[in-house]
Amino acid sequence: MIKQAIIPLAGLGTRLLPLTSVFAKELLPINGKPGIEYILDECIEAGIKEVIFIISKKKMMIKNYFYNDKFYKKIIAKKKDNRIINEYKKILKYKKMIKFVYQNKPLGTGDAVLKTKKYIKDRFFLMLLPDDLIIKNNCSKSMIKIHNRYKSSVMASMNVDRKTVSRWGIYKLNKKINKNNYLIKGVIEKPSKKKAPSNKAVIGRYILPKNIFSKLIKLKPGNNGEIHITDAIQSLINENYKFVAHNFSGKYLDCGTMNGYIKSSLEISKL
Ligand code: G1P
Repeated sequence: MIKQAIIPLAGLGTRLLPLTSVFAKELLPINGKPGIEYILDECIEAGIKEVIFIISKKKMMIKNYFYNDKFYKKIIAKKKDNRIINEYKKILKYKKMIKFVYQNKPLGTGDAVLKTKKYIKDRFFLMLLPDDLIIKNNCSKSMIKIHNRYKSSVMASMNVDRKTVSRWGIYKLNKKINKNNYLIKGVIEKPSKKKAPSNKAVIGRYILPKNIFSKLIKLKPGNNGEIHITDAIQSLINENYKFVAHNFSGKYLDCGTMNGYIKSSLEISKL
């Protein structure tokens, strides 16, 4: 069973400047609700019981958002507003399941994952990248089903325009298992168009084995000085670990870029 999820939140959010110069991008509202709450709701609905947030000192605002009890209690005592009471109850529910760990240097997603090593209890855990919202279908829930069926690691996948391959992790395919699932031979982080082995991209949902930590510890920083989770995944595949790419149904919203962020509110308001 997959019961724990981790969410890297220490990124600087430069693609969303100037909004992120004083604000954590994950708290920016998408159709009136902070982006991170969509991710938490996806986890809860998928049966996750504990979520580990990897933040940095610069992103303390995220912890404060969930730890503002005194403020709420005062306001609620003064104004008996049902909307505020319900919002506070929701925040308390989230808070109960969140643990915080710190990544103070932005050394990449691989390094962020490594910070959670002590806290992972089971053989597999879920990772969600908060820039990637998937609506109309719970991607994590579908991936957990696939994990249970194939006893494998699972990563979300989407066909992308060949012109954009250098923006993503790209899969090397092994064989098709069925309509939406592929066994993969490998994954390359942000390849050039020439080097890209397919047009299937990694989207930010991963079910990873605990053994990934032993690979991450040994990794040297890759391009732009960061430790990439994709490189650790490739090392595991080289040792015959089974990884399935799941072409998810549902709609992908890229909230990490200004254009995508703006569009995401419009898309969600139509639901
Ligand atoms: C990260 C991953 C990349 C993946 C992408 C999906 O990149 O490293 O493999 O395709 O998320 O959004 P980033 O968006 O952090 O540049």
